[in-house]
Amino acid sequence: MRARRICLSSLVASLDEGRKDVFRILAELARQEEVSIYLVGGPVRDAVLGSAVVDLDFSVVGDAVNFANRFAGETGGKVTAHPQFGTATVVADGRRVDLVTARREEYPEAGTLPRVTPGSIDDDLSRRDFTINAMALRIWPEGGDILDPMGGLCDLDSRLIRVLHSRSFLDDPTRMFRAVRYEQRFGFTIDEGTLSLMSSAVSQGNMDAVSGDRWLHEIERILDEAEPGRVLLRASELGLLAGLHRSLADDSGIRRMAECDEGSMVPEEWLAALISPLSEVGGSEVIGRLRLSGRWAAVARDTIDLREKETAVRDSAGQPSELYRILRPFTHHSIAARARLTVDPLVRSALLHYLGELRFIRPALTGKDLLKMGAAQGPLIGEILARLHCARLDGALSGIADERALARELLTRSRTECPTPDGRGREGAAEV
Ligand code: CTP
Repeated sequence: MRARRICLSSLVASLDEGRKDVFRILAELARQEEVSIYLVGGPVRDAVLGSAVVDLDFSVVGDAVNFANRFAGETGGKVTAHPQFGTATVVADGRRVDLVTARREEYPEAGTLPRVTPGSIDDDLSRRDFTINAMALRIWPEGGDILDPMGGLCDLDSRLIRVLHSRSFLDDPTRMFRAVRYEQRFGFTIDEGTLSLMSSAVSQGNMDAVSGDRWLHEIERILDEAEPGRVLLRASELGLLAGLHRSLADDSGIRRMAECDEGSMVPEEWLAALISPLSEVGGSEVIGRLRLSGRWAAVARDTIDLREKETAVRDSAGQPSELYRILRPFTHHSIAARARLTVDPLVRSALLHYLGELRFIRPALTGKDLLKMGAAQGPLIGEILARLHCARLDGALSGIADERALARELLTRSRTECPTPDGRGREGAAEV
């Protein structure tokens, strides 16, 4: 396949009206401010590949934050700015526009965030990750060919992912995950020299210099791809997962998950697959390394705990209330992932039974109904509801009339078993 030579007008013509407006407004602002502005990176690459251009990234040879504020003023958009990096994102009408100040970058220490100084468009293209992402099209002043100082068009033709210089992965080791993501998304190949730089960066421990937040961000981007399994397996093959944490060298979970239908899986299930072979200690270390919190941390922990409960799940397959009791504390994503990962068909069907049916079953009667039936406020109400719930789960009750009958029986029994000092029973005197 030869990369298509594109020009700005044909690219803009292929966009929806909202995105066309973005170009029109930006060009007008650039004219007023007398700054040059370029479309850069992903959208240029995608347009050359003939793919739909969705996110719009621009480089402003001037103050991008000021420019973003003016653009937001014109469009009623909302700005999020990072003045220390000269970058801003404007979200207007649900569309995201990223603006960066054309800049030079210097990495004071490997793996840390760069020191940035304003620069030319050539400087800005030379600081980027791969040749295919280092191309630009000028929006204002109008006209001019695609800028391609690093040979991105040629690499698109050759279907290659290639870094711009030999320090690229030392400066920013997260680019190694990006390389694999692009390679698998486009069906390209990582160039030999780039692969060998990757291998040295991993073996020298450069990945350790990057914070967990930044790695998690890259993993989330992988999980948002159409086929995360392919990307994760390739990352594993290249030693990148083991480079993140030694226990992630065991990729059996993602291997198994990749055999399932990728299209039906959500990111949390992939995380579960990644974590699933780990020991409790390994799991905690990975959670700490990636600084997982909230739902991510819950899915990770549950995935390991649930693996240890497979025997109990199998043994309770015929007793729904017991199955419910075991599975209720676990996140649904970890249960769905386990159902795909387990090799035991009985366990799988028990987990799917819980997910598809048991977790939705509730008694029809509520605490209020029990109060109306004469139960006194207190723990007895919760106990009776729990009994009704179990009976419902086990299929012993078929409707609300059955529930009322059981509730009455339990209330009567509680009266005789635990009479109150006045001899009228715990639930009080009212007739049931
Ligand atoms: N970039 C970089 N190094 C990084 C991250 C980004 O050089 N570690 C540059 C690349 O030129 C990239 C651009 O910043 O094209 C915008 O980053 P991003 O939005 O992450 O990449 P896109 O290619 O636009 O998006 P996607 O990866 O989803 O296609």
